[in-house]
Amino acid sequence: MLQKLVTVVISLLLVSCSGKDNYDPARDYFTFANTDQFLTRHIALDLDVDFATESLRGSAVLYMTAVDKRARQIILDTRDLSIESVVFLAANGAPEPARFEMGTVDGVKGTSLVITLPLSVDTQSELIVRIDYETSPASSALQWLPPELTAGGKHPMMFSQSQAVHARSWIPLQDTPKVRITYEAVIHTPAELLAVMSADNDPLAPRGGEYRFDMPQPIPSYLLAIAVGNLYFASLGEDTGVYTEPELLDASVYEFANTQDMLDVAEERFGPYQWGRYDLLVLPPSFPYGGMENPRLSFLTPSLLAGDQSLVSVVAHELAHSWSGNLVTNATWRDGWLNEGMTSYLESRLMEIIYGEDRADEERVLGYEELLLNFESVPLERQALAPRLDSGDPDDIQGTIHYHKGQLFLQYLEDGFGRDTFDAFLLTYFDDFAFQTITTEEFLDYLDENLLAPNPGIISRQQTEAWMYQPGLPDDARLPSSTTLARAAELAAAWAVGEVGVNDIPVGDWSPQAQIHFINSLPADLSGERLQVLDEALGLSDTKNAEIGRTWFIQVATRRYTRGYEKLEQHLNRYGRTRLVSPVYKALAGNGQDFAAAEAMFAKARSAYHPLTVAAIERVFRPTDGPEN
Ligand code: BES
Ligand code: ZN
Repeated sequence: MLQKLVTVVISLLLVSCSGKDNYDPARDYFTFANTDQFLTRHIALDLDVDFATESLRGSAVLYMTAVDKRARQIILDTRDLSIESVVFLAANGAPEPARFEMGTVDGVKGTSLVITLPLSVDTQSELIVRIDYETSPASSALQWLPPELTAGGKHPMMFSQSQAVHARSWIPLQDTPKVRITYEAVIHTPAELLAVMSADNDPLAPRGGEYRFDMPQPIPSYLLAIAVGNLYFASLGEDTGVYTEPELLDASVYEFANTQDMLDVAEERFGPYQWGRYDLLVLPPSFPYGGMENPRLSFLTPSLLAGDQSLVSVVAHELAHSWSGNLVTNATWRDGWLNEGMTSYLESRLMEIIYGEDRADEERVLGYEELLLNFESVPLERQALAPRLDSGDPDDIQGTIHYHKGQLFLQYLEDGFGRDTFDAFLLTYFDDFAFQTITTEEFLDYLDENLLAPNPGIISRQQTEAWMYQPGLPDDARLPSSTTLARAAELAAAWAVGEVGVNDIPVGDWSPQAQIHFINSLPADLSGERLQVLDEALGLSDTKNAEIGRTWFIQVATRRYTRGYEKLEQHLNRYGRTRLVSPVYKALAGNGQDFAAAEAMFAKARSAYHPLTVAAIERVFRPTDGPEN
């Protein structure tokens, strides 16, 4: 009751707030670009990859059109770029130098680059702008890895992570998902290394230090991606394959053997795969995410290499983004649920088809439990699927709400209208909005017209709006359940009160998901000594599974099972994916006694982490008001 009242008050506040000021939910607050005056259509890159100076150096040619023919200034996004020159190229190729200046520095948005059109430039025809520039070693998108931080240990490596607003730290551009561009690139590297991009990688490309790419499908800037290293390719099927260092190639082929099947199944259900090949790139441990859906080439953490395909839902997820996100793109980061929630839903559908209903149910339950945990720490106004987002860092908003609440919303629609009807809706949705962006409100209108209205009396517009704008979950949400996970939870409770012995827990027969659920279901008052009993019998501290390790070491830290700290520290040094390490530091720093120990472990591990991971862990030690993952 009280919860309801709070909910009503909050939403009234939200409505009145957005009425009073001029908050525009359709506006991207994280770009400087004047996209109402100019739009970029195509970018041609020519870049040298210099490991000695940890920089990219060269040029970006932007092909633009004037939406407002009277406008005479182009504003681009940059961060930590040194701009050497800006010239306009006439149709005959003749260069015309342009005046440009850098704006003030913003912690999240970077620095605007304001270019004044020379008098001779005519806005009636296409504008061709060449920018010569260099990136900084501090580029927020690029990580430069010394050989020690790679699997092989002999060659350096570099990779990009452009989402959400980091493309501007390696290319001067209009860095907003509302603008779609095609691109081409010439990349110069040390002769023995291979460059790959979110483009038409050629598995047979000979080495030699010069690589050419074409990306003929228009993409938003956050999907621009590059990696350079001692990379080799192995095929996984007709249109699928994997790139990684030779040391990880066999393990990757084994782990991701179902990728071609996933692609085939996804096409059958959700419409044609529009991107040509689908390859994977397995990076070193410092890659900060589980995966990143760079088109044609998903980037992955090596922590997925569990040896039993138990963590491949991340591949299903990144592949599914080829429809939700890459093909139909959120208009701004505030609409991120249209990327991540829709993708989590598709991911779970793919997992169900390939690995069966039980596995899919187990993963749905684990996702739902993460959502419940998230609700405890995320302020109510941030629990809406489409929250107000005009400040802060768009990287921080991508917590669990967009993913799992979004997934539950789509599951709710599926339940309401039936799987066949809902699948038919999705198929036309992806087709109607292919290569376009969409706001939450446009989605609701489209949903209304194509699903709610033609099937009246099932779900109302008002009900869909509750999901979008209210905190928590609507009362009629359908919650996932799994019999195997329920059994694991029962055993956890029974063991904790001494009803069953440690040898009666058949952990070895359980899926990793059930093991995770078992660990999470141990009662809050269980002591560190009791954890030790469990560990000695079940060997949990020695797990080879990164997600089991994450779950276990959070418990080890929370309950101060100090004999487990040595293995805990090994976990923190073995992995770099933010999700795997940050919550372990948080549990250790927050257990009332080990703040200094946590800081000391971080000081030792830090140099191997990605800057985004470092930033996330620093927030653990110095919490601000932003939500953490
Ligand atoms: N696009 C995201 C990664 C991302 C989100 C990067 C926000 C920057 C800002 C990717 O598709 C993703 O969701 N990765 C998840 C995978 C998981 C949910 C299956 C991850 O890395 O944990
Ligand atoms: Zn995603």
